[in-house]
Amino acid sequence: MKNILTRFLNLTNLLSVNHYQILCENEHTMMKILIAFYTSTGNTKRIALSMKKVLENYDIDLLEIDDYESRDLSGYDLIILGSGVYLGVVGDKLIELVRNALNFPPKYACFYSCQSKEPYHNCFKPIKEAAEQKGSKYLGEFHCLGEPFNYYSGEEYVEAQKKFDELGFHPDKKDLENAKQFILDIIKQV
Ligand SMILES: Cc1cc2nc3c(=O)[nH]c(=O)nc-3n(C[C@H](O)[C@H](O)[C@H](O)COP(=O)(O)O)c2cc1C
Repeated sequence: MKNILTRFLNLTNLLSVNHYQILCENEHTMMKILIAFYTSTGNTKRIALSMKKVLENYDIDLLEIDDYESRDLSGYDLIILGSGVYLGVVGDKLIELVRNALNFPPKYACFYSCQSKEPYHNCFKPIKEAAEQKGSKYLGEFHCLGEPFNYYSGEEYVEAQKKFDELGFHPDKKDLENAKQFILDIIKQV
């Protein structure tokens, strides 16, 4: 009798855990996420694609910004905003996206890459100000190195490339894995 009772209790316990997990998964799967990014030389796109890959069970859209058009962002629970850093700030098309968006999502997070080893803590300032005005909650930020594109030619190219080679190629595999972990941590907060 005791055995039967124990097995019954174990089973109900198991069922409730599974039921809870299914509820959580469904809740997460129903979450709608937008990754919107600006890229000049492709580094940000690689990070965005890496994030999308780890979220394949979610309802997720990727938006590469290449204009200043105003967009209606209704229906998203979370927006992830990404860019390279250009003269100390993120791409202006991304800034305009946030400023001009209709129905900006209730929660947002940011990511960027830059060639400086020192992070640019203020590069998202204009975006944070605009998002705050729209009542969106900031969830966190990710950054990594991003190898710059060598626009130079001749001797200048060689000199610039020497400097860039010191950085190593970034974002590298580890950066992309870190980006995946970042986004998984963000999702837990939504
Ligand atoms: C026009 C231009 C300006 C840049 N300015 C900076 C800068 O001020 N500080 C920095 O650390 N990196 C700077 N970078 C390097 C980029 O931030 C870095 O390479 C980034 O990964 C580029 O991202 P993307 O490939 O998505 O455009 C600049 C790159 C470009 C093309």
